[in-house]
Amino acid sequence: MYPELAGKHALVTGATRGFGRAIAQRLAAEGATVVVNFRRSKTEAEQVAAEIEGAGGRALVLRADVGKPESLDEMFDAIRRELGRLDIVVANAAFGVPGPVLEATTKHWDVTLAASARSLLELAQRAVPLMQAGWGRIISISSEGGQKVIPGYGVVGVAKAALEAVTRALAFELAPKGITVNGVIAGIAETKSLWSIPGAAQMLREARDHTPAGRIITPEDVANAVAFLASNQASMICGHFIVVDGGRSIVA
Ligand SMILES: NC(=O)c1ccc[n+]([C@@H]2O[C@H](COP(=O)([O-])OP(=O)(O)OC[C@H]3O[C@@H](n4cnc5c(N)ncnc54)[C@H](OP(=O)(O)O)[C@@H]3O)[C@@H](O)[C@H]2O)c1
Repeated sequence: MYPELAGKHALVTGATRGFGRAIAQRLAAEGATVVVNFRRSKTEAEQVAAEIEGAGGRALVLRADVGKPESLDEMFDAIRRELGRLDIVVANAAFGVPGPVLEATTKHWDVTLAASARSLLELAQRAVPLMQAGWGRIISISSEGGQKVIPGYGVVGVAKAALEAVTRALAFELAPKGITVNGVIAGIAETKSLWSIPGAAQMLREARDHTPAGRIITPEDVANAVAFLASNQASMICGHFIVVDGGRSIVA
């Protein structure tokens, strides 16, 4: 669908399941070589890579905890060695401690902000030198919690607000180089991370009942928006977010 993505090199963080898996598979189906990043789930990451290769694509499995700079350094050393250059980065992985914000500890704040917000900056700092002059894509994955209160979402909402601000700051600095930085604000989907939020079942019921499009979103819906943002069709979109939620957030 986007022939210009064939031959590109893409890194998708947290690509073992959920949105990341669907994004990795979609970019691979477009002909990109995909780095399937994982933190703990090596077997699942290898499974995603095997599926990509089984469908005729190219994948490379690399471990890194996106919240730890030294771990990112190791992954980028491997990307430099194995691929030489990088064209697309999808900052999808997030990690956070749910619960009321009043109960968040300093450690909760630090690990959540590091993995879910600072990681975008750390990824960009390492990826931009590997991007060729004139073309690059950095895409972040946010949630409604970056702008509204999701009860029980803890400091993850704070991290998503920071992630969105970093997306805009990077977009401003990188647009002159032909590197676009944008994001997707995803609605509720039934993935593993959702079940860590207290009240997830109620949230799902709510979304099912009140989404104008008649169903909640799937990881493939998010992957479609990411593929568009990665394409040349989106080359003049800089520092913005596509909301993929079936219209849920337009309803009071
Ligand atoms: N599900 C939703 O309703 C929803 C809505 C809006 C936005 N989002 C956002 O969408 C993104 C993906 O969420 P998801 O629902 O697809 O989650 P998921 O199914 O739980 O998958 C999370 C992925 O992130 C990886 N990961 C977690 N911490 C990591 C770290 N520190 N370093 C590297 N990888 C790490 C996990 O790999 P390991 O198992 O190897 O750790 C896994 O591959 C997140 O940014 C999330 O906030 C989700």
